[in-house]
Amino acid sequence: MSSGRISQHAGTRLAPDTPGADEAWRELHRAACAPYRAAGRFAWHFARGKLGRDPVFRGMLERGDLPARARVLDIGCGQGLLASLLAAIDVQARGRWPVGWPAAPAGTSYTGIELMQRDVVRAQAAVGHLPSGPRFVCADMCSAELPACDVVVILDVLHYVDHEAQEGVLTRVRDALLPHGRLLLRVGDAASRRGFAASQWVDRIVTMVRGHRVPPTFGRPLHEWTALLQKLGFVVNGVPMSRGTPFANVLLVADLP
Ligand SMILES: C[S@@+](CC[C@H](N)C(=O)[O-])C[C@H]1O[C@@H](n2cnc3c(N)ncnc32)[C@H](O)[C@@H]1O
Repeated sequence: MSSGRISQHAGTRLAPDTPGADEAWRELHRAACAPYRAAGRFAWHFARGKLGRDPVFRGMLERGDLPARARVLDIGCGQGLLASLLAAIDVQARGRWPVGWPAAPAGTSYTGIELMQRDVVRAQAAVGHLPSGPRFVCADMCSAELPACDVVVILDVLHYVDHEAQEGVLTRVRDALLPHGRLLLRVGDAASRRGFAASQWVDRIVTMVRGHRVPPTFGRPLHEWTALLQKLGFVVNGVPMSRGTPFANVLLVADLP
């Protein structure tokens, strides 16, 4: 049932019933998870849990981190949850977008790069056919060609490669971004020992459950991530991104001037 508000001005009904933020998010969550039923029980439950509990997805919408019609490159995209969310936004933006949120990032185009073939297969099976036409590439981010784009999203991925390789990826990301492009990079703050250790443990368990080998990881304190991005020419804004979790995660919103 709708708990949405009616926008009124001088007694005139201006907008149809628009949902509140919680209701809109529930609808988006349902729509973004639905395609994963076709990709098997694991894919479906993983989508529901990750999109529901990880604050980063709703947070990006509430802050307006993603512009409309952007070419989005999602590095380490897993089973393509962001692609599914963006496709759901295309539908929801037509009249079911909360008035309190920034404009919907509708009309985006999406490319995901993922190392693990199994995840690419799940992504293709679930969302490969959607009208938004997401594209998935099975490749190593350290050597994959990065297409020209407006926004690069890297959520919890860079710690899988060593420091030199991290800088190499970020340099190529900077070069792939068009002027005024944006990088949304989520990292753990290695200076926060407990939070960082907690995220590493959960990461290991989830990696095993997803059927992958557990690799060594390479963290940095937050100030080092920030300094590296600044050295590459980004203007960086850090947003705490651990609400409701024991982790020390930060979303670095890094813009090219
Ligand atoms: C913790 S998961 C995050 C998935 C997704 N970004 C999300 O937030 O739902 C990290 C992903 O990065 C992928 N990955 C790790 N190393 C990679 C590499 N060298 N190139 C591309 N993807 C990589 C993993 O296979 C995994 O799917």
